[in-house]
Amino acid sequence: MKKKVAIIGATSGIGRALAIELHTRGYTVGATGRRIERLQELQQQLNTRIHTQFMDVAELDDAIDQLNQLKKDMGGLDIIVLNAGVSNYQKESVSRQADLHVIDINIRGFANLASYSFDMFEEQGQGHMVGISSIASLFGWGLNVPYNASKAFVNTYLQGYRQKANHSDADISISTILPGFIESEMTKEKKGMFWVADTQKGARQIADAIEQKKNVSYITKRWRLVAWLIKLIPNWVWNRM
Ligand SMILES: NC(=O)c1ccc[n+]([C@@H]2O[C@H](COP(=O)([O-])OP(=O)(O)OC[C@H]3O[C@@H](n4cnc5c(N)ncnc54)[C@H](OP(=O)(O)O)[C@@H]3O)[C@@H](O)[C@H]2O)c1
Repeated sequence: MKKKVAIIGATSGIGRALAIELHTRGYTVGATGRRIERLQELQQQLNTRIHTQFMDVAELDDAIDQLNQLKKDMGGLDIIVLNAGVSNYQKESVSRQADLHVIDINIRGFANLASYSFDMFEEQGQGHMVGISSIASLFGWGLNVPYNASKAFVNTYLQGYRQKANHSDADISISTILPGFIESEMTKEKKGMFWVADTQKGARQIADAIEQKKNVSYITKRWRLVAWLIKLIPNWVWNRM
C-alpha cells in the first residue's frame, strides 16, 4: 500500500510540485498552506487521495492541532515534508522585524512541527521526516542573513534527530534535502542564478530521495559538487566577503 504524506507548504513552488509528483506515484497527499484558494485548486486538480488543511506555521499551537486534524482526515501519516519557508533576499525592508519573520517561519515554525512529528512517529512506531534545507545553509551571506542561517539550523537540527532515531525502537527515517536553485515564487525575482531546475524536475528528484530514504540529498544532483567546493573555501575567505 502506498504511503500517506503531509506536505507543509504545498500551495506553490516545490511543495505544490512535490504534492503532484507523489500523488502521481500513488501516495495519499495532505497539503497545507495559508492560501486556501490554492489548496482548493489542488484538491480539484488531484481529485482523489488529496486532503487539504489551512496552516500558518507561525501559529505554533494551531499548527499542531491542524496537523493532527490532517492526520485524522487522512487516516494516518507516514511521511511529513517540512517545506514551508520564506526568504528576505534583497528585500528593501532588511530590518530586525524582517529577520525575525524569517526566523519565525524557517526556524520556530519548522522546529515546532519537526519535534512534534518525531514524537508522533515514535509513538506510532514508524515514520519519515523530510526537511527542505538549501545549499544556502552551507555559508553565511550578507544579502540574505537570516535565511542562510535558518537553513543551517535545519541541517543541524535534523542531524540531531537522525541520531535520536538511531537510538529509538521505532523505525524512523530523517532526510535533509538541499536544493540549489529551483523555479518558484521565492526565486522569481532573483538575479544571478545558474543551473536553475524547473519545479517538476526538482520535485521528481526530491520524490526519489524520499523513496530511497536518503539521509542527505542535493537537488538537482550536480549541486553536490557545489556543496563540496563550498566546504573547501576557508573561513578567512568568507570573512572578507
Ligand atoms: N526555490 C529554490 O531555489 C529553493 C532553494 C533552496 C531551498 N528552497 C526551499 O524550498 C522551500 C519551498 O520554497 P519554494 O522555492 O517552493 O518557494 P514558494 O513557492 O514561495 O513556496 C513557499 C511555500 O511555503 C509556504 N509558507 C510560507 N510561509 C508560510 C507560513 N507562515 N505558514 C505556512 N506555510 C507557509 C507557502 O504557502 P502559503 O504562502 O500559502 O502559506 C508556500 O507553499 C522553502 O523552504 C525554501 O527555503 C527553495
